[in-house]
Amino acid sequence: MNHEAKKIYPVYPCVPCGKDFDFMGSFQMKAHLSRRYLFSASHRLHSDAMSDEENHSTYGKCNNPYGHGHNYTVEVTVSGQVDRQTGMVCNLADLDAFIETQVLARFGHENLNTLREFAQEVPTTENLCIQIYEIVQRGFHFAHLERVRLEETMMNSFEYAGREA
Ligand code: NI
Repeated sequence: MNHEAKKIYPVYPCVPCGKDFDFMGSFQMKAHLSRRYLFSASHRLHSDAMSDEENHSTYGKCNNPYGHGHNYTVEVTVSGQVDRQTGMVCNLADLDAFIETQVLARFGHENLNTLREFAQEVPTTENLCIQIYEIVQRGFHFAHLERVRLEETMMNSFEYAGREA
């Protein structure tokens, strides 16, 4: 099922203004919904493609053999038409249930380096952000995924919005 499937009414574009309206002449209202979730995990930045010296000079303290932890904040943004009956883009309970079972349970309190997702890739927060995006993109069909933003610290965050066309 794709996210368009819940649309009950056909939508026609208005040529002069570019907005969509339905057969009753009402404009369709597209909205964004963002929701934040917290989880903790550890990682060590180390690439098998580089020597120990190169790893140390590239990653500095983040290459420490024992790794270190972060309290990550992940912000998921989805979009869609505001449903006529519910007044919502999608039900937050559906989004919460999906993120909790597919993302937080997967990465929370894990050593990211030991996970299958990072068998070939360095578990940087950029790569973790992409992994989370791919999971939501593949499995969550109640709304359209716009982007995933992952905060590693108060000072750093990363954003991924899919492959550029
Ligand atoms: Ni780190």
